[in-house]
Amino acid sequence: MTIKQCVKQYAPLLKEVTHIPAKEVEILIMYLLDVNVIYLHLNQDKTFTKNKELEKLINKRAKHYPLEYLTNKVSFYGETFLIEENILIPRPETELLVEKAYELLKSIKNPKIIEVGTGSGIISIMLAKLIPSLQSIAVDINDDALNLALKNAKKHKIEHQIEFIKSDLLENISEDIAKSCDMCISNPPYIADDYVLPKNVKFEPKNALFAGNKGDELIKTLLEEISTKKIKYFYCEFGYDQKKSIINFSKKFDIKSLEFYKDYSNFDRGFLMEFNI
Ligand SMILES: C[S@@+](CC[C@H](N)C(=O)[O-])C[C@H]1O[C@@H](n2cnc3c(N)ncnc32)[C@H](O)[C@@H]1O
Repeated sequence: MTIKQCVKQYAPLLKEVTHIPAKEVEILIMYLLDVNVIYLHLNQDKTFTKNKELEKLINKRAKHYPLEYLTNKVSFYGETFLIEENILIPRPETELLVEKAYELLKSIKNPKIIEVGTGSGIISIMLAKLIPSLQSIAVDINDDALNLALKNAKKHKIEHQIEFIKSDLLENISEDIAKSCDMCISNPPYIADDYVLPKNVKFEPKNALFAGNKGDELIKTLLEEISTKKIKYFYCEFGYDQKKSIINFSKKFDIKSLEFYKDYSNFDRGFLMEFNI
C-alpha cells in the first residue's frame, strides 16, 4: 500500500475523535518514518511498510488516546516540546499567560521568577528563551514532570536559566529565595473534582487537573504562600468561573492591583495580582 492509500484507508477510523482525521494519519506516518511534511508530500506514491505499527497507533487514537502522547511531541508558542504520559499536554490558552508575563518581565532588569506546577516546563522555558537574562525556579510535585521539563530545557538549550525543584507549591522555597523573585507564575490545577472530563482529557494526570471541591482551592493556598513569602507579582491561569471567588479572596491581602484577562473564546482565563510589599 502507498502512503496516499494508507491515509485514505485509515482516516475514516478517526472521524469520531478529530475534525482533521487525514492530517492525523499523516502525522502518525511522519512519526513512524521519522520524516517531515515535505518528504511526505513528495513521496505519496511510495510503498508504506509499517502498516502494523500504524494500525496499532490508529486503534489507540480511535479510543481518544491523545495524539501528542502517541508522537511524544507537542507544539507550544511556535516551538516543539517533548511530552509523555503522566504529564499534562500544554494548551494553547497558556500561550496567553506566557505572552502577558513576558510583557511585564521584559521591563525588569535580570528578572527572576518562580513557576509553580511546571509540568513539561513550557512556561519557564519559553520565558527563558524570550528573555535571555531571566532566571527561573520551576517546581512541581511530579518527578516525571520535573525530569521531562529538564529534558525540554536541554532541548531548547536554556537549562542554565532554570533550576528544577520538587516542591508542594512553595513549601521547599525559603522565604529569602522567594523574596528575591519578582514574580510567581502558574498554570495550576483548577478544575472542580466533580467535573466530567472529555474523553481525551481522561488520559491526562488527575493531579495536574483537579484541585478540590470548587477547583480554586490550590490557587488560594498558593496566594497565601506568595503573600507570606513576599513575592510582588502573581500571574496565574484559572477557570472561567473563578473570577468572583478570587476577587473576594484577594480582600484579605494587601494588594496594589488585580487585573483579569480573557482567552481566545472570551472566557475569563487568568489574572495578575500585584502585592504591596
Ligand atoms: C495544569 S498543569 C500545568 C503544567 C504546565 N505548566 C502547563 O501549563 O502545561 C499543573 C501542574 O501542577 C502540578 N501540581 C499539582 N499540584 C501541585 C502542588 N501542590 N505543588 C506543585 N505542583 C503541583 C502538576 O503535577 C502539573 O504538572
